[in-house]
Amino acid sequence: MTSSFPLSGRVVAVTGASKGIGLGIVERLVAQGASVVAGARDVSNVERDGAVFLPLDVTSEESVAEFAQAARSAGVDSLVNNAGVGSFMPVQQITIEEYRRVMDTNVLGTILMTKALVPHFQYRHAEGRVSHLINITSDVSTRTFAGGALYTASKYAQRAVTHALAHEGHAYGLRVTEVRPGMVDTYFNDSQQGDPEKAAWLKPADIANAVAYALSVPEHVRVDEILLHPVVQDVAY
Ligand SMILES: NC(=O)c1ccc[n+]([C@@H]2O[C@H](COP(=O)([O-])OP(=O)(O)OC[C@H]3O[C@@H](n4cnc5c(N)ncnc54)[C@H](OP(=O)(O)O)[C@@H]3O)[C@@H](O)[C@H]2O)c1
Repeated sequence: MTSSFPLSGRVVAVTGASKGIGLGIVERLVAQGASVVAGARDVSNVERDGAVFLPLDVTSEESVAEFAQAARSAGVDSLVNNAGVGSFMPVQQITIEEYRRVMDTNVLGTILMTKALVPHFQYRHAEGRVSHLINITSDVSTRTFAGGALYTASKYAQRAVTHALAHEGHAYGLRVTEVRPGMVDTYFNDSQQGDPEKAAWLKPADIANAVAYALSVPEHVRVDEILLHPVVQDVAY
């Protein structure tokens, strides 16, 4: 039994990888010797050694199929479903368009991207190889607040999908991990990364550390869930 499962030589697909948490994950994984197939809708201005950036819209089955094909060709062993959008308003202001944008990205996107790679992960299992799925949900995948109905509904749902996949994937040796960040300094919900008022929040590198840890534990270990907060954020359970 191995004592670690190094990232060197691994091939990881990361969605929502052009900025924020996703880009932090890409940077951390390539620094540890992994190859990354990275996707977002606009990848025109991003480059990192060790990563190939491809256009990806997780809400489009065609776009997902193309991205998954590239990931399979690269020999992908792990998928990080990170693409997501925020949206905060009282229930009476939620429009059908906004509902669809948030649910399609955060929930359907997770389902489509995973669905596209499950047969590949099953094939790898038949060959005795381990695959890994990491879903970046949120600390609010189990709690809500005023103005949070739509976003937290999407994150509760993404958590449910993650848990169902953990049950299903058990049959084919898929390691499934839910990573649940609290407040992270990114471009989330049309904010600016580096904003002074977010100085004490988690950084994308903190989430990347959690992802790298979950991916690199020994092959017989499954990290089910990682919940992390900046110290300045109140305890959330
Ligand atoms: N920031 C926080 O405080 C926080 C806390 C907990 C959880 N999260 C979760 O962390 C994840 C990443 O968020 P972030 O904070 O890093 O936000 P961000 O800085 O806004 O980055 C979001 C990334 O997702 C991509 N994306 C958005 N829609 C997409 C789509 N349809 N298809 C493919 N890629 C798409 C964006 O690129 P394009 O727009 O070019 O596609 C971008 O690369 C999300 O799932 C979010 O819910 C964030």
